[in-house]
Amino acid sequence: MSAAASGLVEAMQIAHAPSVWDEITIGPTSWFVYGGGGVGGTGSLCGVPNGVCLVLNMCGQHSLASKVMDYYTWTPFPTNAVDLAYDPETWHSSKQVPIPLEYLTPTVAESPLCHVSISKYCAANGVTLADTDGQGNIYKNDRCAKIACDLAAFALELMQGVSYTSHGVSAQTSTCIGCHNSSADSVIPATQGNMECAGCHTDEAVIVQNGHWGGGGGGHPGNKPK
Ligand code: HEC
Ligand code: HEC
Repeated sequence: MSAAASGLVEAMQIAHAPSVWDEITIGPTSWFVYGGGGVGGTGSLCGVPNGVCLVLNMCGQHSLASKVMDYYTWTPFPTNAVDLAYDPETWHSSKQVPIPLEYLTPTVAESPLCHVSISKYCAANGVTLADTDGQGNIYKNDRCAKIACDLAAFALELMQGVSYTSHGVSAQTSTCIGCHNSSADSVIPATQGNMECAGCHTDEAVIVQNGHWGGGGGGHPGNKPK
């Protein structure tokens, strides 16, 4: 897998073969290599939900993107789905086999960002991006690959009409959005998006002073009612 996004599209292509999906280039010339490392190595949007949403979009199902992002944000990864499906007899990868879940501490990203997702996981498991389990299986790649499989299956379920109840944003973030991101009646400064605010805005002095998080962007003289 050159990137989670390409790996996912490759899996979808194989799952749908033979079909027009065969015309999509995979492997090192994949259209989707850009998605690796959170797009161009920036650690922004994780390549897996990026690839999944792209596939859904190509199937005319772009409205399902928010469910994919919600599932990615709030699910403890890795799950044991790949372990359950793993069959050494039919496994084709020469690079890596799934690391059993009993040796891992799954983490909830609470963010769609590659940076947050991977960093929390590496910290919780005490590993670097390159550390292996001693048998050559890289912990970081194990998680990325399992998430790609998990979200590919999730996307197929969504397309088949399986219902999914979104976790939604936390109560705290919902409050922030109520003032900062409510279109016409937003306060200034207005913001875009529904990522968990507290992941980045953690200035405790501002919380104490104003009853909400601030941090970044200069002073916060008071919590003015909107
Ligand atoms: C991934 C990190 C991240 C998340 C998540 C995030 N922000 Fe930010 N936000 C920033 C950064 C970085 C800036 C720019 C700060 C600066 O340099 O001034 C910013 C800027 C802002 C600003 C403008 C500050 C100013 O006056 O310049 C507001 C308001 C804001 N964010 C609110 C929110 C709200 C509300 C949420 C949740 C819905 C949120 N942010 C989620 C990182 C984040
Ligand atoms: C009751 C409305 C209201 C709520 C709720 C609210 N804010 Fe604000 N926020 C404001 C207003 C008004 C300003 C600009 C005036 C000021 O600086 O006090 C502001 C400014 C900011 C800034 C600009 C930087 C700074 O510190 O001055 C950030 C960042 C911010 N809010 C983040 C958040 C986050 C994160 C939450 C949720 C935890 C939140 N706000 C909830 C009204 C609100």
